[in-house]
Amino acid sequence: MIAAAKKVLRENDVGVFTRPGPKQYPHQWNWDSALIALGLSHFDLERALLEVRSLLAGQWRDGMLPHVVYHGVKSDYFPDPGYWRITGSPHTPKTPTSGITQPPLLASIIYRIHQRQPILEFIREVYPALLHWHRWLHEKRDADGTGLVCIIHPWESGTDDSPRWLELLKSVEAVGTVDFNRGDTRYVDATERPFQHDYQHFIYLIDLFRKHNYDQKALIENSPFLVQDVLFNSILYRANLDLKSLGVELGEDTSEINGWLACIQDGFIKRFWDEEQGLFYDYDLRHQRPIRVSTGVIFLPLYASLATRQQAERLVQDHFHDPVHYGVDKVVRYRLTSASKSLPGWDARRYWRGPVWILLNWLVSEGMRDYGFEREAELLRGDALQLMDTSGFREYYDARDGSGCGSEGFSWSAALAIEWLQTRN
Ligand code: GLC
Repeated sequence: MIAAAKKVLRENDVGVFTRPGPKQYPHQWNWDSALIALGLSHFDLERALLEVRSLLAGQWRDGMLPHVVYHGVKSDYFPDPGYWRITGSPHTPKTPTSGITQPPLLASIIYRIHQRQPILEFIREVYPALLHWHRWLHEKRDADGTGLVCIIHPWESGTDDSPRWLELLKSVEAVGTVDFNRGDTRYVDATERPFQHDYQHFIYLIDLFRKHNYDQKALIENSPFLVQDVLFNSILYRANLDLKSLGVELGEDTSEINGWLACIQDGFIKRFWDEEQGLFYDYDLRHQRPIRVSTGVIFLPLYASLATRQQAERLVQDHFHDPVHYGVDKVVRYRLTSASKSLPGWDARRYWRGPVWILLNWLVSEGMRDYGFEREAELLRGDALQLMDTSGFREYYDARDGSGCGSEGFSWSAALAIEWLQTRN
């Protein structure tokens, strides 16, 4: 299996970066890249570090690390680099990129690699860029002074068409969007991809951001999609912890990072925890209300160590094992469905509306292990490895029969298989 996973990473390698999927995703994606570097680090450390350097070449001058770096590669992917019209912003890099960001997993991945294969010189090189990105997030995306960071586009959540966004997107009138040719349904069956009306919203938001030349203040004021996301803030919190450890090792002053950590810690439970349901809900900042939709993201505070012991127990007993929500039953045999099975629009094969995603299993299993839920961590790992073993390295999987969906030869699935198989038996 390791050999097959390496082959996927090699085949998706285009020299300086690795495609998330051979046809569907021909450019460099932000958090995919971090995971790919983790996989590569097990057998080609230099190439892993190059993956990170290439991603950082797309960093904007104000610190933003974009969700896609195009690297001048020609493709049929939409939106193409020209569509973003990022040159209206004074901060853009030389390399063409998108104009939004993605969950900041990178610092944690670099820290993880460093724990096994010391790469202090490399860390010295990239630390300022990581710090700059995190500072940008805390300064430009803290919309209400709580210390929690907000996202302005579903793509920034990494879980594009998650049911979390449904209600909010209904309130967005996607008017005036020019005709566009999606492209994503060329290689993957449309029943496994987001609905057309979701795409209309995705593109409408880009049109709006272009008009404001990606001025963050204007985007926060004008984006109808303004959300404090449990997943994004959990990943950022843990990345801040890891960045701090790197900073300490370099002898840097880390008081600024301490400030960020304290803010998130103060605000997180207050904002996201729902005592009645016993889970963490995202917050719709535009309409000032919690988004009461249960998806796999509710377990992410475990990954960040932001849940109390009691909260963690409720998440595990009342949600993870409950067959109504995330536990297995006669029909659904694999964990972890990306959305609760109880949701009316639950869809076993459609993108973030129900299928199992290897990344989610990995993040949640890490969290389970940190809280001492060894059995649950093993269930998540075991199911993920079995899915990849029987159906190949796919983008996501149908939790009923384990069949693969979305892109074939998916890089982060392969990378995480290597990570799991090389680090534990
Ligand atoms: C999809 C996923 C996102 C990922 C990208 C490339 O947009 O939702 O998380 O980064 O594909 O794999």
